[in-house]
Amino acid sequence: MTDDCAFEAAALVRQRKPGFVPRLGLILGSGLGPLAEQLSDAVSVRFDELPGFPVSTVHGHAGELVLGTLAGLPVACLKGRAHFYEGYGLGVMTGAVRTLKLLGCEMLLVTNAAGSLRREADAGSLVAVTDHINLLPGTPMVGPNDERFGPRFFSLANAYDRELLALLKASAQTSGIGLHEGVYAAFPGPNFETAAEIRMMSILGADLVGMSLVPEVIAARHCGLKVVAVSVVTNLAEGLGTTDLSHEQTLKYAALGAKDLVSVLLAFVTELARRPATPAST
Ligand code: HPA
Repeated sequence: MTDDCAFEAAALVRQRKPGFVPRLGLILGSGLGPLAEQLSDAVSVRFDELPGFPVSTVHGHAGELVLGTLAGLPVACLKGRAHFYEGYGLGVMTGAVRTLKLLGCEMLLVTNAAGSLRREADAGSLVAVTDHINLLPGTPMVGPNDERFGPRFFSLANAYDRELLALLKASAQTSGIGLHEGVYAAFPGPNFETAAEIRMMSILGADLVGMSLVPEVIAARHCGLKVVAVSVVTNLAEGLGTTDLSHEQTLKYAALGAKDLVSVLLAFVTELARRPATPAST
């Protein structure tokens, strides 16, 4: 499938904020929307105005793309994402990610809520993602390849960019905030996992489990965006904790961890703003 939608969406966004070239794209997960309020000279475009963007069914309102400057860095925030379990298919975020690339982004920072398979990283903890295990029924790149964005076959060897990860860790340290590292397993949802599935994931080497991230990262790597990802732990995964899993619990702890995450991200973005722009690589 060719993705003309992304070109149309990028053209529309450029009309709304002429001359603006974001360097970093951000996907803001549950509880992190308020980060977008810290952008200066912000301009918002609703997802339902943008071809190829998903209209999320989770919170009953459209997400928005917010463009502006954060700690000196021009950024584009996707506020509100859609998920595979909403019924859109695995390419649900591909158009939005490609639009960020066409607007000029070199990097993509992805945040999300996740369950933890490590007792030492319990609710409220932050975990930098070092790699992933895809347990979804496919990848977003199945089907004809649109060569304008990237090659048919591509590597995920440095999917979570080592340099950006090092910078994220340094930013957490200077902010005095603990940051674990771990492997994220993507589960389709919308039901949480069974305890047996969590035991399986543990054997496979997962430290985190969640229902997003992986399709977005694959789409981003296909088009050469450098990726950094951080999860806010909202619960110990099924079978490891004592509380029942629920969306309410996810939102409560996402908001709790979000405060720390905002501090780390501001330090991270401040440092990125000092660095010269680098061309995206595959
Ligand atoms: N499993 C899957 N997704 C999640 C979880 C979980 O335990 N917590 C937050 N998102």
